Amino acid sequence: RTGARVERLPLSRFTTLGVGGEAEVWFAETHEQLREAMEQPYRILGGGSNLVIADEGVPERVIRLSGALAERDLTPDPHLSEDPWVVTGWVGGGVPLPGLIRQLQKLGLSGLEGTVGIPAQVGGAVWMNAGTRYGEMFDGLHTLEIVTPEGTRQVTPDDLNWGYRDSGIPRNHIVTRVRLKLRRAAPEEVLAKMDFADQARKGQPKMKTPGCAFKNPGGVSAGKLIDEAGLKGSRVGNALIAPEHANFIVNLGGATAADVHALLGLIRDRVPVPMELEYELWP
Ligand code: FAD
Ligand code: EPU
Repeated sequence: RTGARVERLPLSRFTTLGVGGEAEVWFAETHEQLREAMEQPYRILGGGSNLVIADEGVPERVIRLSGALAERDLTPDPHLSEDPWVVTGWVGGGVPLPGLIRQLQKLGLSGLEGTVGIPAQVGGAVWMNAGTRYGEMFDGLHTLEIVTPEGTRQVTPDDLNWGYRDSGIPRNHIVTRVRLKLRRAAPEEVLAKMDFADQARKGQPKMKTPGCAFKNPGGVSAGKLIDEAGLKGSRVGNALIAPEHANFIVNLGGATAADVHALLGLIRDRVPVPMELEYELWP
């Protein structure tokens, strides 16, 4: 045994929607602990900000990167950095993205500020190339370390077929850490860009939610399509299609995964354009 902490816990505690039953959570603090956790069927949990987890929980081990896999070394690598570009040391997949973005701003490192306000962990945000119209994770990546039960490999963005909300990395290939490639800039300049990108969130609900339910089909706002179908304010149980923005489903308190699934079904039935789900549903 590698000594990884293992605990049976309600996953609702780890999701921004506040929904999800119990599972065996493996807190992997080192590569060795991660390898042990991956010896049986597993899922990888990041910030839980894009997940709708069943009220029954999941039977697989749920891995959470912590300890050394949630640390960051933002020191410029002297061999890889060339003015104005800075390539950092390793940033763990378990690092919370919002704090990292604030830290990069203070250091005057530009490239990822467009992702301000995304309540993810670095690994989860990289895995789905989270972003806004002001920037996405792949704008600031130099190298990615990916771990699977078969072993560990390092890749660059050029090795991956990434795009809108998609890294091209298969499910359950774990992004353990990344090196960032950023540009030196005045901290005030980075802050101004963050504030600008943050303006786009003014119309988003402030309640418990897993973010946008559907990806924008062909660049059209899914929220606008759901709104035009007259679905704002629709409620099933304690889940509600937000009156502020129709692509957000919010938990009014005590919502179940079944409530959210019912609203997703209603949207699929009523919106005439096919839309791809952005959330991930467990199981
Ligand atoms: P989780 O929700 O924990 O997991 C999502 C998926 O990533 C799962 O398949 C999981 O297995 C996988 N995963 C997690 N960690 C890893 C890892 N280390 N390696 C490999 N796979 C992993 N998204 C946007 O793109 N743009 C936005 O503007 C945006 N705004 C949001 C606003 C709010 C208020 C909320 C709640 C969400 C928002 N989201 C947004 C959605 C969400 O933040 C993103 O989808 C984010 O990428 C999810 O990352 P996570 O770490 O929370 O992953
Ligand atoms: N709109 C409506 N009704 C609605 C929602 C939106 O008419 O209910 C209209 C707005 O008025 C606006 C247009 O649609 O004219 C676009 O809306 P918004 O600016 O809110 O952007 P979006 O395309 O709906 C995308 C991302 C968000 C991201 C914002 C800001 C997707 C699926 N959504 O939303 O990302 O925060 O841009 O950059 O790409 C997420 O992915 O989880 C997410 C929250």
